Amino acid sequence: METIHTVAWMKQVASAARRDERVLGLVPTMGALHEGHLSLVRAAQQQCSPVVVSIFVNPKQFGPAEDFQKYPRPLDRDRALLEALGVDYLFVPSIEEMYPAGFRTRVVVEGLGDRLEGRSRPGHFGGVTTVVLKLLEIAQPRFAFFGRKDAQQVRIIEQMVGDLNLDAEIVVRPIVRDADGLALSSRNAYLDAEERAAARALYQSLDAVRRAVARGERERTQLLTALRKVIEQEPKVALDYAEIVEADTFEPVGNLRKTSYVLVAARVGQTRLIDNALLEPAGESFLVTL
Ligand code: PAJ
Repeated sequence: METIHTVAWMKQVASAARRDERVLGLVPTMGALHEGHLSLVRAAQQQCSPVVVSIFVNPKQFGPAEDFQKYPRPLDRDRALLEALGVDYLFVPSIEEMYPAGFRTRVVVEGLGDRLEGRSRPGHFGGVTTVVLKLLEIAQPRFAFFGRKDAQQVRIIEQMVGDLNLDAEIVVRPIVRDADGLALSSRNAYLDAEERAAARALYQSLDAVRRAVARGERERTQLLTALRKVIEQEPKVALDYAEIVEADTFEPVGNLRKTSYVLVAARVGQTRLIDNALLEPAGESFLVTL
Protein backbone atom coordinates (compact mmCIF):
# COMPACT_ATOMS: atom_id res chain seq x y z
CA MET A 1 0.00 0.00 0.00
CA GLU A 2 1.29 3.43 -0.91
CA THR A 3 0.55 6.33 1.43
CA ILE A 4 -0.14 9.62 -0.34
CA HIS A 5 0.09 12.92 1.55
CA THR A 6 -0.33 15.52 -1.17
CA VAL A 7 -3.20 16.54 -3.43
CA ALA A 8 -0.83 16.83 -6.39
CA TRP A 9 0.40 13.24 -6.07
CA MET A 10 -3.11 11.88 -5.51
CA LYS A 11 -4.23 13.64 -8.69
CA GLN A 12 -1.33 12.13 -10.63
CA VAL A 13 -2.20 8.63 -9.46
CA ALA A 14 -5.86 9.24 -10.32
CA SER A 15 -5.03 10.57 -13.78
CA ALA A 16 -2.76 7.62 -14.50
CA ALA A 17 -5.51 5.19 -13.46
CA ARG A 18 -8.00 6.96 -15.71
CA ARG A 19 -5.55 6.96 -18.63
CA ASP A 20 -5.02 3.21 -18.19
CA GLU A 21 -8.81 2.74 -18.09
CA ARG A 22 -8.65 1.30 -14.62
CA VAL A 23 -11.72 1.53 -12.36
CA LEU A 24 -10.69 3.57 -9.35
CA GLY A 25 -12.78 3.18 -6.19
CA LEU A 26 -12.69 5.72 -3.36
CA VAL A 27 -13.69 5.11 0.25
CA PRO A 28 -13.74 8.45 2.12
CA THR A 29 -13.34 8.16 5.91
CA MET A 30 -12.24 10.10 8.96
CA GLY A 31 -10.25 7.09 10.21
CA ALA A 32 -10.52 5.24 13.54
CA LEU A 33 -11.52 2.43 11.23
CA HIS A 34 -13.96 -0.29 12.25
CA GLU A 35 -15.81 -3.11 10.47
CA GLY A 36 -18.28 -0.57 9.00
CA HIS A 37 -15.45 1.19 7.17
CA LEU A 38 -13.81 -2.11 6.25
CA SER A 39 -17.06 -3.39 4.73
CA LEU A 40 -16.94 -0.39 2.38
CA VAL A 41 -13.32 -1.20 1.51
CA ARG A 42 -14.21 -4.82 0.71
CA ALA A 43 -17.15 -3.71 -1.44
CA ALA A 44 -14.81 -1.35 -3.29
CA GLN A 45 -12.31 -4.13 -3.87
CA GLN A 46 -15.03 -6.35 -5.41
CA GLN A 47 -15.78 -3.71 -7.99
CA CYS A 48 -12.67 -1.56 -8.40
CA SER A 49 -8.94 -1.53 -8.91
CA PRO A 50 -7.16 0.45 -7.67
CA VAL A 51 -8.88 1.19 -4.35
CA VAL A 52 -8.10 4.45 -2.55
CA VAL A 53 -9.07 4.96 1.10
CA SER A 54 -8.91 8.53 2.37
CA ILE A 55 -8.48 9.39 6.03
CA PHE A 56 -9.06 13.04 6.82
CA VAL A 57 -10.62 14.36 10.01
CA ASN A 58 -12.37 17.26 8.31
CA PRO A 59 -12.44 20.33 10.59
CA LYS A 60 -15.15 21.99 8.50
CA GLN A 61 -17.80 19.44 9.45
CA PHE A 62 -17.36 19.83 13.22
CA GLY A 63 -19.17 22.55 15.13
CA PRO A 64 -17.20 24.78 17.55
CA ALA A 65 -18.44 22.80 20.58
CA GLU A 66 -17.96 19.41 18.93
CA ASP A 67 -15.28 16.75 19.24
CA PHE A 68 -12.81 17.74 16.47
CA GLN A 69 -9.87 17.94 18.90
CA LYS A 70 -10.56 14.67 20.67
CA TYR A 71 -11.71 12.69 17.60
CA PRO A 72 -9.63 9.46 17.65
CA ARG A 73 -6.67 9.35 15.22
CA PRO A 74 -5.06 5.89 15.50
CA LEU A 75 -3.28 6.23 12.16
CA ASP A 76 -0.76 3.39 12.59
CA ARG A 77 -3.54 0.97 13.47
CA ASP A 78 -5.68 2.18 10.56
CA ARG A 79 -2.78 1.81 8.16
CA ALA A 80 -2.15 -1.76 9.33
CA LEU A 81 -5.83 -2.69 8.85
CA LEU A 82 -5.85 -1.31 5.30
CA GLU A 83 -2.51 -2.90 4.50
CA ALA A 84 -3.85 -6.28 5.65
CA LEU A 85 -6.86 -5.90 3.34
CA GLY A 86 -4.58 -5.16 0.39
CA VAL A 87 -5.73 -1.59 -0.22
CA ASP A 88 -3.72 0.07 -2.99
CA TYR A 89 -3.53 3.68 -1.80
CA LEU A 90 -4.08 5.48 1.49
CA PHE A 91 -4.68 9.22 1.00
CA VAL A 92 -3.97 11.17 4.21
CA PRO A 93 -3.73 14.87 3.41
CA SER A 94 -2.92 17.41 6.11
CA ILE A 95 -5.36 20.20 6.92
CA GLU A 96 -3.06 22.71 5.17
CA GLU A 97 -3.01 20.51 2.09
CA MET A 98 -6.84 20.41 1.88
CA TYR A 99 -7.50 23.94 3.13
CA PRO A 100 -4.47 26.11 2.38
CA ALA A 101 -4.40 29.69 3.62
CA GLY A 102 -6.92 31.75 1.69
CA PHE A 103 -9.38 28.89 1.14
CA ARG A 104 -12.86 30.42 0.76
CA THR A 105 -15.25 28.03 -0.96
CA ARG A 106 -18.17 26.26 0.63
CA VAL A 107 -20.45 23.78 -1.16
CA VAL A 108 -24.01 23.68 0.14
CA VAL A 109 -26.88 21.47 -1.00
CA GLU A 110 -29.96 23.51 -0.22
CA GLY A 111 -32.99 22.18 1.63
CA LEU A 112 -31.92 18.62 2.43
CA GLY A 113 -29.21 19.77 4.83
CA ASP A 114 -31.07 22.08 7.21
CA ARG A 115 -33.22 19.42 8.91
CA LEU A 116 -32.51 16.58 11.35
CA GLU A 117 -28.70 16.21 11.55
CA GLY A 118 -28.36 19.59 9.85
CA ARG A 119 -30.53 21.28 12.46
CA SER A 120 -28.74 19.66 15.38
CA ARG A 121 -25.35 20.33 13.81
CA PRO A 122 -25.51 23.68 11.95
CA GLY A 123 -22.96 23.87 9.16
CA HIS A 124 -22.15 20.17 9.38
CA PHE A 125 -23.38 19.13 5.94
CA GLY A 126 -21.78 22.13 4.24
CA GLY A 127 -18.49 20.88 5.66
CA VAL A 128 -19.21 17.35 4.46
CA THR A 129 -20.17 18.34 0.90
CA THR A 130 -17.20 20.70 0.62
CA VAL A 131 -14.71 17.99 1.55
CA VAL A 132 -16.44 15.23 -0.41
CA LEU A 133 -16.51 17.34 -3.58
CA LYS A 134 -12.79 18.03 -3.11
CA LEU A 135 -12.05 14.33 -2.56
CA LEU A 136 -14.05 13.36 -5.66
CA GLU A 137 -12.18 15.95 -7.73
CA ILE A 138 -8.79 14.93 -6.37
CA ALA A 139 -9.17 11.14 -6.62
CA GLN A 140 -11.48 11.11 -9.67
CA PRO A 141 -13.13 7.80 -8.71
CA ARG A 142 -15.51 5.89 -10.99
CA PHE A 143 -17.20 4.64 -7.80
CA ALA A 144 -17.27 6.17 -4.31
CA PHE A 145 -18.50 4.10 -1.35
CA PHE A 146 -20.60 5.35 1.56
CA GLY A 147 -22.51 3.74 4.44
CA ARG A 148 -26.27 3.90 5.01
CA LYS A 149 -25.38 4.54 8.66
CA ASP A 150 -25.28 8.23 7.67
CA ALA A 151 -28.42 8.14 5.54
CA GLN A 152 -28.95 11.90 5.31
CA GLN A 153 -25.28 12.43 4.42
CA VAL A 154 -25.56 9.94 1.54
CA ARG A 155 -28.77 11.53 0.26
CA ILE A 156 -27.11 14.96 0.23
CA ILE A 157 -23.97 13.64 -1.49
CA GLU A 158 -26.10 11.93 -4.16
CA GLN A 159 -27.91 15.22 -4.73
CA MET A 160 -24.62 17.09 -5.09
CA VAL A 161 -23.22 14.50 -7.53
CA GLY A 162 -26.36 14.77 -9.67
CA ASP A 163 -26.66 18.54 -9.53
CA LEU A 164 -23.00 19.12 -10.41
CA ASN A 165 -22.81 16.36 -13.07
CA LEU A 166 -19.94 14.65 -11.29
CA ASP A 167 -18.62 11.44 -12.86
CA ALA A 168 -18.46 9.37 -9.70
CA GLU A 169 -21.16 6.81 -9.06
CA ILE A 170 -22.19 6.66 -5.40
CA VAL A 171 -22.47 3.16 -3.94
CA VAL A 172 -24.40 2.83 -0.65
CA ARG A 173 -23.70 -0.11 1.67
CA PRO A 174 -25.66 -1.52 4.65
CA ILE A 175 -25.07 -0.66 8.30
CA VAL A 176 -22.61 -2.91 10.11
CA ARG A 177 -23.63 -3.57 13.72
CA ASP A 178 -22.12 -5.10 16.83
CA ALA A 179 -23.56 -8.41 18.05
CA ASP A 180 -26.08 -6.59 20.27
CA GLY A 181 -27.25 -4.36 17.41
CA LEU A 182 -25.34 -1.15 18.16
CA ALA A 183 -24.26 0.42 14.86
CA LEU A 184 -20.48 0.59 14.66
CA SER A 185 -19.13 4.12 14.91
CA SER A 186 -15.75 5.65 15.62
CA ARG A 187 -17.50 7.58 18.40
CA ASN A 188 -18.45 4.34 20.22
CA ALA A 189 -14.88 4.48 21.54
CA TYR A 190 -15.96 7.38 23.79
CA LEU A 191 -18.49 5.19 25.68
CA ASP A 192 -17.66 3.73 29.09
CA ALA A 193 -19.00 0.26 29.96
CA GLU A 194 -22.31 1.50 31.34
CA GLU A 195 -22.86 3.87 28.44
CA ARG A 196 -21.99 1.12 25.98
CA ALA A 197 -24.72 -1.05 27.50
CA ALA A 198 -27.22 1.83 27.45
CA ALA A 199 -26.39 2.63 23.82
CA ARG A 200 -28.22 -0.52 22.74
CA ALA A 201 -31.43 1.48 23.24
CA LEU A 202 -30.96 3.16 19.84
CA TYR A 203 -31.07 -0.17 18.02
CA GLN A 204 -33.85 -1.42 20.28
CA SER A 205 -35.94 1.68 19.57
CA LEU A 206 -35.66 1.02 15.82
CA ASP A 207 -36.49 -2.62 16.43
CA ALA A 208 -39.66 -1.49 18.25
CA VAL A 209 -40.64 0.40 15.09
CA ARG A 210 -39.95 -2.71 13.03
CA ARG A 211 -42.30 -4.72 15.28
CA ALA A 212 -45.00 -2.05 15.12
CA VAL A 213 -44.75 -2.00 11.31
CA ALA A 214 -44.99 -5.79 11.26
CA ARG A 215 -48.21 -5.52 13.33
CA GLY A 216 -49.62 -3.31 10.58
CA GLU A 217 -49.04 0.10 12.18
CA ARG A 218 -48.48 2.77 9.51
CA GLU A 219 -49.07 6.05 11.35
CA ARG A 220 -46.02 8.23 11.95
CA THR A 221 -47.08 9.37 15.42
CA GLN A 222 -47.79 5.82 16.59
CA LEU A 223 -44.51 4.52 15.22
CA LEU A 224 -42.56 7.33 16.87
CA THR A 225 -44.35 6.72 20.16
CA ALA A 226 -43.15 3.11 20.07
CA LEU A 227 -39.62 4.35 19.42
CA ARG A 228 -39.64 6.98 22.19
CA LYS A 229 -40.95 4.51 24.76
CA VAL A 230 -37.81 2.41 24.38
CA ILE A 231 -35.48 5.42 24.63
CA GLU A 232 -37.30 6.78 27.69
CA GLN A 233 -36.75 3.50 29.53
CA GLU A 234 -32.99 4.07 29.40
CA PRO A 235 -32.04 6.96 31.73
CA LYS A 236 -28.52 7.28 30.30
CA VAL A 237 -29.89 8.01 26.83
CA ALA A 238 -31.31 11.44 25.93
CA LEU A 239 -33.19 11.65 22.64
CA ASP A 240 -32.10 14.45 20.29
CA TYR A 241 -34.57 13.69 17.50
CA ALA A 242 -36.59 10.81 16.13
CA GLU A 243 -38.31 11.13 12.77
CA ILE A 244 -39.70 9.16 9.87
CA VAL A 245 -38.94 10.68 6.49
CA GLU A 246 -39.43 9.74 2.88
CA ALA A 247 -36.15 8.48 1.47
CA ASP A 248 -36.11 10.74 -1.59
CA THR A 249 -37.12 14.07 0.00
CA PHE A 250 -36.19 13.57 3.66
CA GLU A 251 -39.53 15.22 4.49
CA PRO A 252 -41.49 13.73 7.42
CA VAL A 253 -44.14 11.23 6.35
CA GLY A 254 -47.76 11.30 7.50
CA ASN A 255 -48.66 7.69 7.04
CA LEU A 256 -46.03 5.28 5.86
CA ARG A 257 -46.46 4.71 2.11
CA LYS A 258 -43.19 4.97 0.22
CA THR A 259 -39.61 3.97 0.90
CA SER A 260 -38.69 5.80 4.11
CA TYR A 261 -36.17 6.04 6.90
CA VAL A 262 -36.71 5.99 10.64
CA LEU A 263 -33.93 8.21 11.95
CA VAL A 264 -32.81 8.50 15.54
CA ALA A 265 -30.17 10.68 17.20
CA ALA A 266 -29.43 10.58 20.91
CA ARG A 267 -26.85 11.46 23.49
CA VAL A 268 -25.41 8.67 25.61
CA GLY A 269 -23.57 10.56 28.35
CA GLN A 270 -21.55 13.13 26.39
CA THR A 271 -21.50 11.06 23.20
CA ARG A 272 -23.88 11.77 20.36
CA LEU A 273 -24.90 8.73 18.32
CA ILE A 274 -27.16 8.28 15.28
CA ASP A 275 -28.85 5.26 13.75
CA ASN A 276 -31.59 4.47 11.26
CA ALA A 277 -33.75 1.79 9.70
CA LEU A 278 -34.82 1.58 6.07
CA LEU A 279 -38.52 0.89 5.40
CA GLU A 280 -39.35 -0.41 1.93
CA PRO A 281 -42.82 -1.26 0.61
CA ALA A 282 -43.12 -4.98 -0.18
CA GLY A 283 -46.60 -5.73 -1.45
CA GLU A 284 -49.08 -5.01 1.36
CA SER A 285 -46.28 -5.05 3.88
CA PHE A 286 -42.97 -3.27 4.53
CA LEU A 287 -39.48 -4.68 4.57
CA VAL A 288 -37.62 -3.10 7.51
CA THR A 289 -33.84 -3.21 7.36
CA LEU A 290 -31.87 -2.16 10.43
P1 PAJ B 1 -16.78 8.42 8.87
O1 PAJ B 1 -17.69 8.69 10.00
O2 PAJ B 1 -15.38 7.97 9.13
O3 PAJ B 1 -17.47 7.35 7.94
C1 PAJ B 1 -16.89 6.97 6.71
C2 PAJ B 1 -17.89 6.12 5.96
O4 PAJ B 1 -18.16 4.93 6.71
C3 PAJ B 1 -19.25 6.84 5.78
O5 PAJ B 1 -19.74 6.60 4.47
C4 PAJ B 1 -20.11 6.16 6.83
O6 PAJ B 1 -21.49 6.17 6.51
C5 PAJ B 1 -19.55 4.76 6.82
N1 PAJ B 1 -19.88 4.06 8.07
C6 PAJ B 1 -19.67 4.49 9.34
N2 PAJ B 1 -20.15 3.59 10.23
C7 PAJ B 1 -20.69 2.58 9.50
C8 PAJ B 1 -21.36 1.36 9.83
N3 PAJ B 1 -21.56 0.99 11.09
N4 PAJ B 1 -21.77 0.57 8.82
C9 PAJ B 1 -21.57 0.94 7.53
N5 PAJ B 1 -20.95 2.07 7.15
C10 PAJ B 1 -20.51 2.88 8.12
O7 PAJ B 1 -18.83 9.89 7.25
C11 PAJ B 1 -17.71 10.38 7.36
O8 PAJ B 1 -16.66 9.74 7.93
C12 PAJ B 1 -17.38 11.77 6.83
O9 PAJ B 1 -18.52 12.58 6.93
C13 PAJ B 1 -16.84 11.76 5.38
C14 PAJ B 1 -17.89 11.22 4.39
C15 PAJ B 1 -15.55 10.94 5.28
C16 PAJ B 1 -16.51 13.22 4.96
O10 PAJ B 1 -15.61 13.78 5.83
